[in-house]
Amino acid sequence: MKCLILLHSATGNTRLMTRYAASCIASAGHECKIRDIVSHPKPPALGSVDLLGVSCPTMYFRPTFAMERYVARLPSTAKPKPVFLLGTAGGEPGAHFALLAEQLAHKGYVTLGAHWLMFPESWPPHLTLVKDMGKTAQYGEMFSRRYPALRPWLAVFWPEIGVSSEADRDNLRRFSEEVLVRASTFEPDVAPSFNDLHKPMPGTNMAGRMVTVEMAAQYTAVKLVPDRCTKCGICVKVCPVGCINQEKKGALPAFGRGCTGCWACFQHCPDQAISGWKSDPAVGKYPGPTKELKELFEPLPS
Ligand SMILES: Cc1cc2nc3c(=O)[nH]c(=O)nc-3n(C[C@H](O)[C@H](O)[C@H](O)COP(=O)(O)O)c2cc1C
Ligand code: SF4
Ligand code: SF4
Repeated sequence: MKCLILLHSATGNTRLMTRYAASCIASAGHECKIRDIVSHPKPPALGSVDLLGVSCPTMYFRPTFAMERYVARLPSTAKPKPVFLLGTAGGEPGAHFALLAEQLAHKGYVTLGAHWLMFPESWPPHLTLVKDMGKTAQYGEMFSRRYPALRPWLAVFWPEIGVSSEADRDNLRRFSEEVLVRASTFEPDVAPSFNDLHKPMPGTNMAGRMVTVEMAAQYTAVKLVPDRCTKCGICVKVCPVGCINQEKKGALPAFGRGCTGCWACFQHCPDQAISGWKSDPAVGKYPGPTKELKELFEPLPS
């Protein structure tokens, strides 16, 4: 079977999860490629793909706007084809999977299943707000060990608690194997309904459906601080929708219209030269998955 996973990851969590899932599929003897939608903005031809995957973080209780736009540009398929969804979230995906499954259904894709993992929170206003909670991290860890079901709520106060465990990783492997079985016996009529993909926490499904890209941009409000900018061009490369431009290499970047509120530019700027809504560039950045997480999600040998 030929599998292709479309990936958007602003700060590395979803990339880690996706590489692991792809390695599970490959170790079962199938071809599985990952296509990063930021470095490959042109949607691929999908004629030879037997199984499609769509993987991105939850942002604003929904899939990233960048992934949604990418999916909107995918070619439709004349014959129903299977697709599976992956995602990471700091606590709650909301409408993420239902929205993507609905969108893909319009293109002729049938969603076989969705799987998400809890990874550390990366929303800069949140990290800025709870920066002092780091001093009491041991209590957060103690509570989350004692009451694992409360992890999503505890992660609101101690974002670092939102870390997937070995058991979560093994569930991802089982999900990947299950997807392969479902794909090999694919019958469009017996696919799960959108509501079976994920049961959102009360209110988050509606919230995700109500957020507009304008709202996301308004509450991100990334702005260049020219004095601090070293003109390295990193922000230009990581913007998933190409709304930051440099006239030429080494020029000051210009922030144009069309921001989708992903904060990637803010997160990756090495010189704290980008400010944003209620966020301190010195403490609000998510530095990416830790060494421990990287080791935990080390891809399986093929
Ligand atoms: C702009 C933004 C919005 C977010 N919104 C949510 C959310 O609605 N629900 C949630 O559980 N996590 C939310 N998060 C946290 C991310 O989903 C989580 O940290 C994810 O693992 C980041 O993945 P990445 O490193 O692949 O970009 C948000 C993060 C950002 C940057
Ligand atoms: S990443 Fe930061 S320092 Fe580099 S060009 Fe962009 S704003 Fe300037
Ligand atoms: S300008 Fe920054 S926050 Fe807005 S879409 Fe581009 S990378 Fe994301």
